[in-house]
Amino acid sequence: MKKVITYGTFDLLHYGHLELLRRAKEHGDYLVVGLSSDEFNKAKGKTSYFDYEKRKEMLSAITYVDEIISENDWNQKEKDIELHNINVFVMGNDWQGEFDNLASICELVYLPRTPNISSTAIKDIHKNVNDRS
Ligand code: CTP
Repeated sequence: MKKVITYGTFDLLHYGHLELLRRAKEHGDYLVVGLSSDEFNKAKGKTSYFDYEKRKEMLSAITYVDEIISENDWNQKEKDIELHNINVFVMGNDWQGEFDNLASICELVYLPRTPNISSTAIKDIHKNVNDRS
């Protein structure tokens, strides 16, 4: 069985996330998602709208996703890849080149981002609507 891993915050789940997960799953048979914890988001300077448990609940409803683990720091990827017998590491190409150090232990794939959609954009739209009302 070919196992794939990807990481992210996946807040305000949107079409770009779905497309990333669909294409990631196409690289193997089993998809593990490292979901950023609320504490790790804070360390990255991000505050998600939905907390970890809600983001996990939504992500687990997606048929492409087989397993969700918690992402708690920048340096756990190598350990996760070994522990979960991962063959392919997938990220959106906003991270192009950032994880090339993992190329010695698994295949690396950077996928093109889906244009014109992000959690930040959704938050901005929501904010603008509220500002007008
Ligand atoms: N992603 C994507 N296309 C998008 C948005 C995200 O392919 N339009 C991918 C990212 O490249 C990443 C994964 O989805 O591999 C999770 O990204 P995340 O940072 O959680 O989503 P964003 O919408 O980019 O969030 P933010 O606006 O907070 O950066």
